[in-house]
Amino acid sequence: MSKSSVTITDNRTGKSVELPVLHGTHGPDAIDIKSLHRELGMFTYDPGYVSTGSCRSAITYIDGDEGILLYRGYPIEQLAQHSSYLEVCYLLLYGELPSTEQMTEFRTIIRHHSMVHEGLRRFYSGFRHDAHPMAIMVGIVGALSAFYHDSLDVTDPEHREISAHRLIAKMPTIAADSYKYSIGQPFMYPDNSLGYVENFLRMMFAVPTEPYEINPVVARALNLILILHADHEQNASASTVRLASSSGASPFASISAGIGSLWGPAHGGANEAVIRMLQSIKSVKEVPKLIERAKDKNDSFRLMGFGHRIYKNYDPRAKIIRAACHDVLKALSTKPEPMFEVALELERIALEDDYFRERKLYPNVDFYSGMIFKAIGIPLNMFTVVFAMARTVGWIAQWMEMMEDPENRIGRPRQLYVGSPQRDYVPLDKRR
Ligand code: SDX
Repeated sequence: MSKSSVTITDNRTGKSVELPVLHGTHGPDAIDIKSLHRELGMFTYDPGYVSTGSCRSAITYIDGDEGILLYRGYPIEQLAQHSSYLEVCYLLLYGELPSTEQMTEFRTIIRHHSMVHEGLRRFYSGFRHDAHPMAIMVGIVGALSAFYHDSLDVTDPEHREISAHRLIAKMPTIAADSYKYSIGQPFMYPDNSLGYVENFLRMMFAVPTEPYEINPVVARALNLILILHADHEQNASASTVRLASSSGASPFASISAGIGSLWGPAHGGANEAVIRMLQSIKSVKEVPKLIERAKDKNDSFRLMGFGHRIYKNYDPRAKIIRAACHDVLKALSTKPEPMFEVALELERIALEDDYFRERKLYPNVDFYSGMIFKAIGIPLNMFTVVFAMARTVGWIAQWMEMMEDPENRIGRPRQLYVGSPQRDYVPLDKRR
């Protein structure tokens, strides 16, 4: 990487510091500010890390202005069209598309880790039946750290790899069990004769009392959804996993923290929030009022599924899902939900509105994903669970990359202190 630099000068003291500029493969250069505090005695200040890079990464690249998303250099549109979720898992983990033999071996490994410890299944009974499946996922995935004492050394690459395989393999089982528990049905065991997506569908919707037939249209749609949600650079949940595991914590406990972060409505929880928002719209005539509320600074309402920290153009994933929506609805010969028409009208009006255009607020991945989830029968409270299942490989790939990064150290941001100046303790009888 060629080196250039920028100079920062403190106008109050005239002191300057020359900081190296780092160049990546794509995207903006980065100013290496590691020496800033030592040289100038100051911190940078960047709430929400809008202009701050936390690491070097070779996994995913997003160009928000052009609406580009690459996994290990491959455009998401090509992977969506030609690949499978499990092949994308291999690509994200190992950096290259697998050969036939590598894919066969990887598929076999994942299949043979799909069951969870029977003791773990007893954890579910402690939850209320109406517990949100994301709350259950946070608990159960964190509890995995109590079961794998054979791979506790996160500095051992073999321990990291077996943890990666276990998480990718077990998330569908844990996700499906979370759903089965919430509806009071018996858990289904994985069937290793099935593919990754088909196995999940069967564990979600089959019952022990009758055969279950996989609908190939549903399997294909879910495979697409999982590919599109697999990774997305240093988003809030990926950064949570990196920060949590930077202390050397268990990958299971760190992924559990990532699931918690993803659950927020500003992040992965938006897919469920979009549907709840659309369900609240009884007719397209209500859309203009909703748009006005979204623009009103005194109203906390935001148009769920719109806007993105990075995409200032159409989220390429939203484009793919929007097109797939039509195909899935047609293939399942289900007439488009009125909600779908409302969504299209909402998008049309928003994209014509100056407020949205000035702020470059476009539909993001969550705006249409809920439509497909509904069309393939995924229950509303499972939308973000499926997102978490898909994103587990991204979190794990980011974790493995961080653990192999020679620059890796515990994450410990600083602050601008604006609290009380130092003062002495006042005994109770002396206080006003
Ligand atoms: C995901 O990071 C990732 O990559 C995430 C993700 C992934 O794959 O990991 O892509 C998945 O989380 C997608 C985003 C899903 N969230 C939503 O759809 C929730 C609704 N969107 C927003 O809350 C918001 O757009 C965020 C959280 C997505 C982005 O927030 P930012 O970057 O902090 O933007 P901002 O809040 O500073 O907004 C900039 C302006 C503000 O107006 P002004 O103060 O400039 O006047 O845009 C406005 C905001 O009020 N704005 C919106 C809006 N989103 C931003 N106004 C109305 N409705 C919205 N949805």
